[in-house]
Amino acid sequence: MFTSNPFADLSASIPTVYMQGYIVVMILLVMGGTILDMIHKKSAQYFFENAKKAQKSAKRSVDSGEKVAIATSVLVKEVLTSGEFSNPRRRLSHLLTMWGTIIFIVTTAIMIFSPAANISSMVPTLWHIGALMLAVGGYWFWFAIRVDVSAEGLPWFRFERADLFILSLLATATFALIWSFTGGGVNILFVLFILSSTVLFGGVYWSKFAHMFFKPAAAFQKRVIMADGGRENLPPDYDLTDPEVQRKFPDVPMYMGKNPPNMGLCIKAERAKHY
Ligand code: HEM
Repeated sequence: MFTSNPFADLSASIPTVYMQGYIVVMILLVMGGTILDMIHKKSAQYFFENAKKAQKSAKRSVDSGEKVAIATSVLVKEVLTSGEFSNPRRRLSHLLTMWGTIIFIVTTAIMIFSPAANISSMVPTLWHIGALMLAVGGYWFWFAIRVDVSAEGLPWFRFERADLFILSLLATATFALIWSFTGGGVNILFVLFILSSTVLFGGVYWSKFAHMFFKPAAAFQKRVIMADGGRENLPPDYDLTDPEVQRKFPDVPMYMGKNPPNMGLCIKAERAKHY
């Protein structure tokens, strides 16, 4: 069941070139949707204007070697391991959803673009595992982790346009799995699978799909701002025992005594449990 390629028999009813054409159209839809999204929200314009503004408060310049190191660290921490999530459940759910989606999409493309005879049974196995990972991470997110449900107390069945991304992801994985486990072929399950994946890739303009391209750029920029000392004009993390800091803020002992304790970051005072 896990090792059978559900697209192999399909070529008897649907010419392979049509399936390949569908994938190319989906790639073009994602590109078009992302570009339209950037134009509509002016996100690229905001990003570059904000970067230019932030540069004005820079205390030092960040050279290209340091930028490469920052980009590598963003790739390893924020992109590959979802390190932006402080809440371990949200992080694990995102890891399952993200890696499941990537494995599912890549193996779909391999099965459709390579001749069936050349495909090892590993590829369809990974296709099923990817869809399952996406379903587990996604349903966990939908029923228990989503802010609307976990923090706002709204029922799991309430949805709005912002949920288009997660719902179309879940529908694609669910119908793909049921379609494959019931023997594949051209039937209503196949139609639902294709319909949901078309909504997923065709709905980029209206959904959160493009965050996967924007978030890495934003994470990189955030780190550069910290490295160049600009800190978005936020005050530095003062060490209150430093005589220099005590001279700068002579009234601190009035509020906190002669040996002020290090209170740490306020945001860390409570365990991250919402976002
Ligand atoms: C195949 C790739 C990816 C998939 C399928 C995916 C999936 C998701 C899903 C389903 C959500 C929840 C959206 C919602 O609130 O409805 C989400 C949120 C998020 N993702 Fe991803 N993601 C991917 C790639 C990435 C990458 C590359 C990054 C960062 C570098 C990233 C960072 C985030 C962050 C920070 C959030 C929280 C967003 C917020 O609450 O504003 N994701 N992602």
